[in-house]
Amino acid sequence: MRLEDIEQEIKSGNAFKVEGGRGGNSHIVNLNGKKYFHKYRSEYPPFKGLSKIEFALFNYCKYHLPSTVYLNNGATAEERIKKEVSTIKLWNLHGIPSPKIVLHSKNSIVYEFMEGFSFGNSFNGEKLNEEDFGRILDCYSNLRRVAKEKKDIELLHPDPYADNFFYNESKEIVIPIDPGNVVKKKDFEEIDTRINLFFLCKIFHLKTTQENKLHYLKQTADRFTKKEKEIMHALNTNPWFKRNYLELQNKWARIADYAGLKNRNWGVERLRIYYSAEVRESIQKELIRKK
Ligand SMILES: Nc1ncnc2c1ncn2[C@@H]1O[C@H](COP(=O)(O)OP(=O)(O)OP(=O)(O)O)[C@@H](O)[C@H]1O
Ligand SMILES: [Mg+2]
Repeated sequence: MRLEDIEQEIKSGNAFKVEGGRGGNSHIVNLNGKKYFHKYRSEYPPFKGLSKIEFALFNYCKYHLPSTVYLNNGATAEERIKKEVSTIKLWNLHGIPSPKIVLHSKNSIVYEFMEGFSFGNSFNGEKLNEEDFGRILDCYSNLRRVAKEKKDIELLHPDPYADNFFYNESKEIVIPIDPGNVVKKKDFEEIDTRINLFFLCKIFHLKTTQENKLHYLKQTADRFTKKEKEIMHALNTNPWFKRNYLELQNKWARIADYAGLKNRNWGVERLRIYYSAEVRESIQKELIRKK
């Protein structure tokens, strides 16, 4: 099987386009009776003109949050592909079930196709889905356990939220996917703590009730040790971040108003969810709660 053959199928419109998030440019391709998952990465950000500037400004505002500052937002498509391949290989090497890479190039990866689904929509609505959330947490904790043993940042999931955990139907297991974000080279514990905070913040992006979110928050916090919670709490309540964050959020709104940016409200909303006082305090309460 050659990459050209797969990409030719996509060009000729014979492939099935996978609806993804903003970064998503993926297809399912059927070739000689076998199914593949092809993922293409364009340069980042994928926006042009004004929206490119908006995106850069938004990232600038988001940059200082304790939960997102660990990312290298300037990584090229090639660097992100390299990162994805190396983390997937490391996971496999250390016995963490993960997708199988068939081949890759500078800007694309071909995986074996897996029957199953991402957990992206599993928590929508009013119903509490403790069981599936527990499955994600099992996978996440296992990853962290191995990463901590090796003290290797590359083993951590750099973008852990529901959509990047996949239920593999044939194996009946949950596996992590999509580890292409490039993480800054820093102290392991610091990166791990920031990513954990990111995971907690992401709970507030779920399209479910506030009550359910608080339940998932508690379910997650229960997986951390006392010491881990203390470290997370210290970072979460760092006054420098608090001040800076509010300043940045206002700055974004002011810049957006001044320039008439069309994504103003989207940005304000995103920043609010990432680190509003409400989210921060909910997390804070959970991290200091005595069992
Ligand atoms: N090997 C695979 N086989 C089948 N489906 C897959 C496979 N890998 C990923 N998927 C599905 O495709 C979706 C997008 O994959 P992935 O998250 O790796 O790409 P992405 O480009 O980051 O997209 P997004 O921007 O939506 O996160 C996933 O949510 C998952 O449901
Ligand atoms: Mg993804």
